[in-house]
Amino acid sequence: MILIIGATGTIGRPLVARLLQGGHHVRAFTRDASRLTPAPGLEVAEGDLDRPETLAPALDGVHTVFVLSFGPDALTQELAAAELVAAAGVRRVVKLSSVAAIEPAAGCYGVDHAKAEAAFAAAVPEFTALRPSGFMTNILQWQSTIAASGTVYQCHGDVPRAVVAPADVAEAAAVCLTRPGLHGRPYQLTGPEALTSPQLVARLSAALGRPLRYVETAPRDAVAGMVGAGLPPAFAQGLLDALAAPEPTRGGRPTLAVRHLTGRPATTFDTWLTRNLAAFRTAPLPLTL
Ligand SMILES: NC(=O)c1ccc[n+]([C@@H]2O[C@H](COP(=O)([O-])OP(=O)(O)OC[C@H]3O[C@@H](n4cnc5c(N)ncnc54)[C@H](OP(=O)(O)O)[C@@H]3O)[C@@H](O)[C@H]2O)c1
Repeated sequence: MILIIGATGTIGRPLVARLLQGGHHVRAFTRDASRLTPAPGLEVAEGDLDRPETLAPALDGVHTVFVLSFGPDALTQELAAAELVAAAGVRRVVKLSSVAAIEPAAGCYGVDHAKAEAAFAAAVPEFTALRPSGFMTNILQWQSTIAASGTVYQCHGDVPRAVVAPADVAEAAAVCLTRPGLHGRPYQLTGPEALTSPQLVARLSAALGRPLRYVETAPRDAVAGMVGAGLPPAFAQGLLDALAAPEPTRGGRPTLAVRHLTGRPATTFDTWLTRNLAAFRTAPLPLTL
């Protein structure tokens, strides 16, 4: 039995689907079971990482765990989860981390991911950290300002980032969860080309066939925006520090890890865009970060 924590999210949904297609038995951990559609091979365990006592029963009979969490409490949640997987005798853990965890870790966001990686590595015999670059789906957050004024507001527009398709991350995770011998080293998952935000906007503009304007935002305004959306100031600043940090070794340059794990090249931004263009032509959807 494979337990998927974060089964209803951007990575978790395609990951669960892929594992079920492969004939694996999956238990999905969620705070709300109604978010998952019943399927053969799928069990749902309702629980909350903020209440670790709800994770313990979900680990019964589980040999492999995929773990992710996000937000200011992510480290606390994952440290508790690491203790529980060790106590349950879980053999393999694959953690969704971030390129921000690459030494020297970028911002408190990267430091927390690195600490959680270390805790899981000590907790189970086989641990794999997946360290993706920014997700291509992040640009769906631009929908509302594009719809309102054809404008994209971003900061650190000079920083190239080899953004990755979430489906590629999910496929790489499925491989690491189910194939032996892939533990003991992190995988830096990226897309096939490094692009700055103004370049992403230019590609989107060409695909939509309408002009879009890129406006460089001051980092303090970006932090204020995230705080306004409900994030604690220190966590918002940590996210922004990680965004500013890509370097060749930290998401700023494409890697071959997706190809190495999945056997096929990473999805290009243009291909992802073609598949998702409709989202920018309709009214903005309610988004989770
Ligand atoms: N976005 C990026 O560009 C990027 C890049 C690199 C790494 N990452 C990492 O990716 C992770 C986010 O993954 P994602 O995109 O799948 O997230 P997501 O789409 O926002 O989904 C979050 C998932 O976490 C679950 N969750 C949240 N709080 C929970 C709690 N208290 N107890 C149990 N489950 C909880 C949610 O499940 P329910 O709501 O169903 O309970 C949901 O399935 C973070 O660790 C982030 O650092 C993101």
